[in-house]
Amino acid sequence: MKFFITGASGFVGRRLIAPLLQSGHQVIGLSRGARESKTEGLSWVQGDPNQPGDWQAAVAEADVAINLAGANLFGRRWTEDYKKVILESRIAGTKNLVEALVAAGGRGKKLISTSAVGYYGFRGDEELDEYSPPGLDFLAMVCRHWESEAIKAEAAGVRVVRARFGIVLGRRGGALEQVVRPFRMFLGGPLGGGKQYFSWIHQNDLVAALLFLAENEKLTGPFNLTAPNPVTNRDLARAVGQALRKPSFIPTPAFVLRLALGEFGSVLVQGQRALPQRLTEAGFEFQFPQVDTALVDLLG
Ligand SMILES: NC(=O)c1ccc[n+]([C@@H]2O[C@H](COP(=O)([O-])OP(=O)(O)OC[C@H]3O[C@@H](n4cnc5c(N)ncnc54)[C@H](OP(=O)(O)O)[C@@H]3O)[C@@H](O)[C@H]2O)c1
Repeated sequence: MKFFITGASGFVGRRLIAPLLQSGHQVIGLSRGARESKTEGLSWVQGDPNQPGDWQAAVAEADVAINLAGANLFGRRWTEDYKKVILESRIAGTKNLVEALVAAGGRGKKLISTSAVGYYGFRGDEELDEYSPPGLDFLAMVCRHWESEAIKAEAAGVRVVRARFGIVLGRRGGALEQVVRPFRMFLGGPLGGGKQYFSWIHQNDLVAALLFLAENEKLTGPFNLTAPNPVTNRDLARAVGQALRKPSFIPTPAFVLRLALGEFGSVLVQGQRALPQRLTEAGFEFQFPQVDTALVDLLG
């Protein structure tokens, strides 16, 4: 199949391209920067997903579009201005991609549009599957709008998957790099109370799940892309400490995180316990269902 990927240069896109090519697929990556490919099966189109433009013509060639573009959510203070960028880069980018899919005829194409388990809001230790209602905080609102733009492609016959990512644990970069930093300085430990749930997924399982959803054309609708065993923040800290052989008992108080990170600090001290019910029902098997083995693989 031919894939068109927005945000293909990012943390997830970089991990997805090689496995797609190895499975015999072709990839067109969209990037705002100029990029060249010397790899067979991979080509780049330059364009800003937030603006309609020539890049939209390349969508017509694709069987599957994967929508990964959007301003980075982690590691930056969420000021009011940055929150606007977070929201608008997802709404406009998704709208323009959907417009291109519809202009290309729609039927026979699949759209896998990213969302996040932040969709469900902060729900303590309640187990959340794809049928759970959305939350009311900022990230939940972003996810709802992001998903509603994607769903509009269904009217033109596009099969739409809304992939609600948990925190993707990967090598070099992404959220794990930030989680690990204080541990390397012997300052690691739980964040806030430590009882909040952390829904995570190993990078290999995320990529495998995206391929599974692309290749099984009948699978549509929302899917939680999270490991089947979310952990509390305290258990995550313990597992990181063990994988790095570093102490993991120094807590960071919630107010320090809120002062440093603004509203994003609240996301870290709250959280949600999302379960991959629909992926499991569809027969997807996780390579890394447990956080301890995932972290030893990534950090050990
Ligand atoms: N990684 C995770 O743990 C995680 C968890 C939940 C949800 N997600 C969501 O999954 C998607 C992919 O995640 P990721 O970690 O790969 O993201 P990423 O590395 O932060 O970014 C993906 C790409 O989006 C493009 N981009 C950045 N800012 C943009 C803007 N303002 N407007 C339009 N495009 C912009 C960039 O591509 P160019 O500069 O080449 O254009 C970037 O490489 C994101 O939407 C993210 O929110 C990720």
